[in-house]
Amino acid sequence: MSFNLQKIRNDFPILSRKVNGYPLVYLDNAATSQKPQQVIDAIVDYYSRYNANIHRGVHTLSQEATDAYEAARKKIQTHFNAKEAYEIIFTAGTTHGINLVANGFSEILKKGDEIIVSAMEHHSNIVPWQMLCEKTGAILKVIPMNEEGVLVFSEYEKLLSQKTKLVFVNHISNALGTINPIEIIIEKAHEYGASVLIDGAQSCSHIKPDLQKLNVDFYVTSAHKMCGPTGVGILYMKEEWGNKLAPYQGGGEMIAEVTFEKTTYAGLPHKFEAGTPNICGGIAFGAAIDYLNRIGFEAIEAHETELLKYATEKLLEIEGLKIYGTGPDKTSVVSFNIEGIHPYDIGTIVDKLGIAVRTGHHCAQPIMDFYKIPGTVRASFAFYNTLEEVDALVNAVKKAKMMLS
Ligand code: ALA
Repeated sequence: MSFNLQKIRNDFPILSRKVNGYPLVYLDNAATSQKPQQVIDAIVDYYSRYNANIHRGVHTLSQEATDAYEAARKKIQTHFNAKEAYEIIFTAGTTHGINLVANGFSEILKKGDEIIVSAMEHHSNIVPWQMLCEKTGAILKVIPMNEEGVLVFSEYEKLLSQKTKLVFVNHISNALGTINPIEIIIEKAHEYGASVLIDGAQSCSHIKPDLQKLNVDFYVTSAHKMCGPTGVGILYMKEEWGNKLAPYQGGGEMIAEVTFEKTTYAGLPHKFEAGTPNICGGIAFGAAIDYLNRIGFEAIEAHETELLKYATEKLLEIEGLKIYGTGPDKTSVVSFNIEGIHPYDIGTIVDKLGIAVRTGHHCAQPIMDFYKIPGTVRASFAFYNTLEEVDALVNAVKKAKMMLS
């Protein structure tokens, strides 16, 4: 498919609605993306035609649902270039995947072992590791960032040692848009024998990662960030980890054999997929991946880069406006404040004009503490946004500034 913006926008029914009497300008894509008709159709089709439980029945519906669910796993494997489909574990989302890994490591880590996270993590990539440290006596270390919102690589190198067991970094910061140099972060960690988890929740809609090339140990993301439904995501883990980590939850589907004396576990991926999964969600995730690949990630990236450049230039023309996250490698996220005005007030006024942005700490309080601010206004752009929508945002922010100054 060539990049025909109007045609793409027509795929998203929500983009034609009005909010507060104005055409919706949806700029909260880092929180969740909108869904194209193709994904909505996949959901309707599943519940209308072949809703059944999977891996359990001999009946036709169950087999159709199983085939569609496993075909989606395969699509996801291909998209992220995992070696095996069974290295893709369906989860409820990024947070679930991280907690699953943290739980597994509670049996492995020892007192004094070290875990490294970055200063720009989402709470979901901080709190589970703090809980893990409390349980095991491991120590959490933090890679600092500079004023631009860029990780200080030399400090990362200083933190690494033989004590380092795990490194957890997001690919892209949800609050700043900074793209982290995960290739070199992974490589350096491996030199010390540490394993790496990459949180791809913010990057999956912008960049197509090659998990085998990255040689990453764990990768987590959520379908809803990439045009799929909420409540479903994936945890990729290298096969060797699948054998080492203890299961997160016990139940049906994750066993090989159960007696009252002893249970043996199934292999990957089922060992980590207890209970009836989000079948429809998994299938619709596959449809979302198909949709994005039909547009093409190169075209997506090119358009989003244009949006980012234009929005940055136009917003910076507003006196007193400061952007947080000004590093050279950024995705289409602009986090900003206007001197003397609370971000919440700006968010409320622009919403009255039909514009959806997120305000607050974006579940990344340490970043806000670093800048000594309560939060920011965050406009996050997707491939279906237009330059005219950027203009609408800029005009609305100007109006808000006038009203609030
Ligand atoms: N993590 C999501 C965000 O950044 C919810 O808004």
